Order: sequence, then structure tokens, then C-alpha cells
Amino acid sequence: MTNLWTQRFAWRTPKGNLPLPPGRFGLPIVGESISYLRDPARFMDQRQKRYGTIFKTHLFGRPTIVFIGADATRFLFTNESQRFEMTNTPSFEVLLGANSIGVKTGSAHQILRKQLFQAFEPRALAEYATTIEDMTRRYLHRWERMGTLTWYSELKKYTLDIACKLFVSVETASDENLEKVYQTWSEGLLSIPIRFPGSKFDRAVRAREQLLARIDEMINQRQQHRNSNQDVLEILLQTQDEEGNRLSSEEVKDNVLGMLVAGHETLTSALTSLCLLLAQHPEVLQAARAEQEQLGFTLSAAEGVTQPLTQESLKQMTYLEQVLKEVLRIAPPVVRSGSRKVLESCEFGGYLIPQGWDVFYQIQETHQDQNVYAEPKRFDPERFAPDRTENKQKVFSYIPFGGGIRECLGKEFARLEMKVFAALLIREYQWELLPGQNLERVVLPFSRPHDGLKVKFWRRESGRDVGMNQMCVNG
Ligand code: HEM
Repeated sequence: MTNLWTQRFAWRTPKGNLPLPPGRFGLPIVGESISYLRDPARFMDQRQKRYGTIFKTHLFGRPTIVFIGADATRFLFTNESQRFEMTNTPSFEVLLGANSIGVKTGSAHQILRKQLFQAFEPRALAEYATTIEDMTRRYLHRWERMGTLTWYSELKKYTLDIACKLFVSVETASDENLEKVYQTWSEGLLSIPIRFPGSKFDRAVRAREQLLARIDEMINQRQQHRNSNQDVLEILLQTQDEEGNRLSSEEVKDNVLGMLVAGHETLTSALTSLCLLLAQHPEVLQAARAEQEQLGFTLSAAEGVTQPLTQESLKQMTYLEQVLKEVLRIAPPVVRSGSRKVLESCEFGGYLIPQGWDVFYQIQETHQDQNVYAEPKRFDPERFAPDRTENKQKVFSYIPFGGGIRECLGKEFARLEMKVFAALLIREYQWELLPGQNLERVVLPFSRPHDGLKVKFWRRESGRDVGMNQMCVNG
């Protein structure tokens, strides 16, 4: 059966002297999707060991070539739109909407990207920093009051609150219904795209309609009374391209919605990994805290809080920057990145990359290349120190945000939120892992610890250092 299946695709590929990459297609119709979904990391690891960094498989109904490593990702990113084009699963296409940047391709994508970028320019980011800081302090107090918590679900609320406040000036804390509708919509993104009453996909499509209606209402209100806050919605309503064209309200709605998912699920994953890795590596936490103290941010005994952050002070936190970089290398939030459709047959690494197939680039495995990263499995922020900069040896060996013309649009926003959160957390708070939890990493839809990271959380006393004996790293 498998042979016939393989032959079918071999027969369909364009003729040429080049061989197809090694690998197999698996079962008819489903291909290897079930093994992939069961454990994506194991799937990739086993095949990489067996076939190398380029191999063929069959995922989600499509013959697919997997690309691992800097050379392959460079080939993909530098040929984007000539030889490769973004492709999404049917559920993604429907739930994101036809006007979403994640779905657009070619020149339409580039024009839209330029317009959306205005919401993430340095001037806009500087405006967002104060809200991020206020919201972070509010949540840190909440967790202090809670004492013990499951951090992943709390961080999800925190990042969604920030996104709602900055993107559409809505306080989700006071709008629980919006949070629930949003969850239903985002859960549908990885569902099977079949609509029958009550199916996950059907509920998600209805949730999308409700969310769009809500954003529509906001747009109408803005048209009557201009919003004094420069939130993302306001920037998108005002932005114009070189010919003075504004975004249509359909474009604004689809992209505000898309950014809510892109902008908070990924950050939740990144911040959860940061908290876990710092608990498991007290020496790194201590070094990051020492940097804060060197910069003059000490806990005041009277109030138990440190001074507010400034753009300048954030820039000076170079060790913290290395820590955050290493978190995104070792535990990249996006494991199932967008696939690309091959527009014209080409050659890479001595193999045929046939027109009409998909290419699926791997972030996690690219970050584990021993030729670039010494002891890649080790959490070692020093690898990004100015005298080592291991990632500089090869372009596109460090790709937590993707690369090329489709590189993450919210990259600087994400880096800002991570830094503000990390700085306030490590200066003023301490946490330890609760025993008996499963810390194994689950990677779909976004990377996170199996049990959601259960911790005990408290405010540090002035001058008290990390209590090493309180560190509990067993899973
Ligand atoms: C740590 C946090 C984040 C990570 C790791 C991340 C990662 C990524 C990756 C890997 C891609 C490329 C996907 C591909 O090549 O198929 C991407 C694209 C994108 N990201 Fe992010 N992201 C993060 C945060 C954000 C935030 C905060 C926003 C917006 C508020 C955002 C908006 C976008 C958009 C709009 C795209 C599509 C860009 C395009 O197609 O031109 N991301 N992101």
C-alpha cells in the first residue's frame, strides 16, 4: 500500500534528474499527520536522525518537504514570493479571514504589511510601554495575593489584557464575555474544518462573527467620536498607503482579530518558559538580578517596589536581553509555523523541491544545530554575550520570529513586553516550582509545560537574595 502511495506522488512530480529528498508519505490520505500531531518534536527528531535535515513526508493532506537548519531556512526566506508562498490550513484561512495578513500573499501582502507596521513603529512602542508596565505591576500584585498559582493560565489572562487594552482600548478584566468568545475562536484554529452544529469549528466560526461584530461596533463609535488613545485600532483606521488609500473596514477587522491571537498566545508561551527556566537555573536569575542592582534598581525597604522603567534603562539591561534571547532559542513559542507552497520546482541540497508541494520550516530543530550552538540543549544565556554571539556565525540560525519578508510583525512589541515583565518580576518577586507536577513540554498549539507551571509566588524582602534552598526543580 505504502509503495503504491509513494509511487503515485513520484509519478506526479516533475521529471528531472534530481532525486526527491528521503522520507516517506505514510498512510493514504492522512499521510503522517497522526504521528506528527501525537508528538511533533519526536516526529521531527526521529526523521532528522534517519534522513537528515531535509526530508519528505505527507502532512495535512499535502506532500511536504521539511526544512531544518540555517542553510535551508535562508533558501526559503530569500526566495519567498518568487519560489515559495504562504499557505494555511483551511480552518486557519476561514477563521483568520480573507483580509488577514497571515493569508495575503505577493504584493497585496507587502502593501498591507507596510500599513500594519505603523502600529509597531518605535514611536508607537514607546507609547505602549507605560500601559505594559502598569498592567504588569497589577498582575504581579494579584499573583502575590494568590500565593500559589498555575502560571500559564494566569499569563494568558495577563497577555490578553495587555493586547485588548493596547489594540482596542478594552479592559478584558471587566469584559469576561469577550474573553470567553475569544477563547472559543482561538481553539478552532487547529480544529478539523467541518461545520455541524456544536462542532469545534462551527463554534469558532460563530465566535469569529461575534468578535467581528464587536470590532465593527468599535469602529462605528470611533467614526462618531475620535478616540483620544492611540491604540492599534486607531492607528489602523488612520493609516494610509503611499497613494493615500486607507485600509477598508474589513481589512481592519480581520487584522485586529489576527493580532489578538498572534500577539498574546505566543507571548504567554514565551513568558511561561522564562519563568520555568529561571526557576530551574537560579544562577541565571541571580546574575539577572545583579544586573538590575548594578543599574541602581534596588528594592526600597519602605515600599518594597523599585523605580519605574524608562526606554533608556531597558536598553541598558544587556544580560537580561541575553536571557530572553536564550529562552526563545531553547523554547521557541511557535512550533507549527506557517507552511509555504512551492510555486516553481527548484533544487536545494541536491534534491528536487517539486512545484505544488509544501515546504515546512522548523524553528525548534534549527535552534538545536550543534555546528552553530555549543551544547544546544543547555540553557546558557552567555552564548549571546558580545564575545560569543554564536547565532552570528550563520544567518537564519536564530529564527524564533521567522525571517525574510514574513518575519514577525510584532517582534519588537514582543521583545518590549518580555523585557518589562522580566525586569519587574526578577527585581521584586521570587517563586518556586510546586512539587509533583508534569513539566514536560507540550508544543501544540503553542509551547507550554504539561501542567501549566504551578508555583508558589511571593514578594522579595528588601535586600534578600535568591533563596537557593527554596529552589525546587523536580518535575
Ligand atoms: C514571543 C512572541 C512572538 C513570537 C515567538 C512570534 C513568532 C512569529 C513567527 C515565527 C512568525 C512567522 C510565521 C511564518 O513564517 O509562517 C510570526 C509572524 C507574525 N507575527 Fe509574531 N510572534 C510573536 C509575537 C507577535 C506579536 C506580539 C504580534 C502582534 C501584536 C505578532 C504578529 C505577527 C504577525 C502579524 C505575523 C505575520 C507577518 C507576515 O505574514 O508578514 N507576533 N510571528
